Amino acid sequence: MNISIFGLGYVGAVTAGCLARQGHRIVGVDVHLQKVESFNAGIPPIIEPGLEDLLKTAKAKGLLRATVSCEEAINDTELSIVCVGTPSKVTGALDLSFVRGVVDQIGNALRKKTKSHALVMRSTMLPGSTQAITQELLSDLMAVRLLQVFYYPEFLRESTAVADFENPSLAVVGTRDGGKPSAELMKSLFGEKAAVVNWNTAEMVKYACNAFHATKITFANEIGRVGKQMGIDARAVMELLCQDTKLNLSPYYMKPGNPFGGSCLPKDVRALTNHARMNGVSLPMLDNLLPSNERHLQSLLSLITESGQSEVVILGMTFKSNTDDLRESAMVEVAQTLLGRGFKLRIYDPALNLAALVGANKRVIDSKMPHLASLLCPDLKTALGSQGLVVAAQKCAPVADLKQFITAQHHVVDVNGWPELRELPSKYEGFCW
Ligand SMILES: NC(=O)c1ccc[n+]([C@@H]2O[C@H](COP(=O)([O-])OP(=O)(O)OC[C@H]3O[C@@H](n4cnc5c(N)ncnc54)[C@H](O)[C@@H]3O)[C@@H](O)[C@H]2O)c1
Repeated sequence: MNISIFGLGYVGAVTAGCLARQGHRIVGVDVHLQKVESFNAGIPPIIEPGLEDLLKTAKAKGLLRATVSCEEAINDTELSIVCVGTPSKVTGALDLSFVRGVVDQIGNALRKKTKSHALVMRSTMLPGSTQAITQELLSDLMAVRLLQVFYYPEFLRESTAVADFENPSLAVVGTRDGGKPSAELMKSLFGEKAAVVNWNTAEMVKYACNAFHATKITFANEIGRVGKQMGIDARAVMELLCQDTKLNLSPYYMKPGNPFGGSCLPKDVRALTNHARMNGVSLPMLDNLLPSNERHLQSLLSLITESGQSEVVILGMTFKSNTDDLRESAMVEVAQTLLGRGFKLRIYDPALNLAALVGANKRVIDSKMPHLASLLCPDLKTALGSQGLVVAAQKCAPVADLKQFITAQHHVVDVNGWPELRELPSKYEGFCW
């Protein structure tokens, strides 16, 4: 295939070298003449292990050249990849001016060429950017089907970029509508394993990954600081933490949903951050876990109280399914607040047997919700009634029973990620998705 690559920096140069190795004919484009000349000589414009060999070989095979002319590159290729920079503005906002500039030039060149073309955006851009930029600059070409646009986020790391390109940690293709057929071209170029989603989701995956990486590094560094204060080698601690691939390095605890609660997480985070504070160790990330969790709970409360419903049914009162532990359960706070604000509340939780509650669990009820017994319904049918907002906090009832008793008069808020709830006749709303 004939492919033009716009922006010969880290991403563009590596993409060029790797696609040329696959036998594609590459035209690199950059506004810096020096980079173009270096590329034309088969010399990488950036330092990256393995890239020089790739470019020299591609050059020798006649598969690689570069130009400063957008029009020339567009005329000579049928697919273009945009890898220009997306730096921060002084305000911290994303600067899309390089992307806008290059897409505008590509659009003008395509209008003269009038042959069908594919455009792949690889620059990291906030969700909605591909949509907005194509709408603004390319909508005429897309309307007459002269142009197909993809968003294909790049996950390579500098210094291992060539190996990462060949064996990516993740491959996600964004198409305009998330449809799979249009992604076939991308899969043929970048690998069959790529997940296909819409533009916005593909754009967001890149930010979620980088925010997660930053979170992991910050977490390890904060454990390091507080560990050192305690005379502990936190590198050894983190080594052990990483050995747990069931709860720690795993998909567990990695889905949006309920605020965290229970007898351990809030208490233990509190103890660790309190110790650090008392000993002069600053842990801004760990310090913000409980406030962030509280903010999450408040956003659930806003969703419920602003729903316009006055009757609320809570499905699952405990902090997770199949336990009767109510300690620091978010739903206890939700119920308490709703009662205080005059909502009509019913609760269903088959795991709760109030008569059998003892110790700390009983104290939660006695202090926070002394009339819980009067709100707890003995069966699902009574709890659901004929209408109301259903807050599905835990998977505490068979879906078949929900299908029997939930009607179009109910409005279900899914807090736990329960896909079957979408099949009910009621209105469905995900808490944070
Ligand atoms: N560097 C990485 O490790 C990495 C990894 C994944 C994603 N990304 C993302 O990929 C994008 C590119 O990153 P990079 O590090 O390769 O950037 P870079 O700054 O190294 O290279 C960008 C290149 O684009 C060129 N350019 C600017 N305007 C142009 C135009 N109109 N026409 C042609 N070329 C033009 C610049 O001259 C420059 O050479 C960014 O959005 C970045 O966030 C980077």
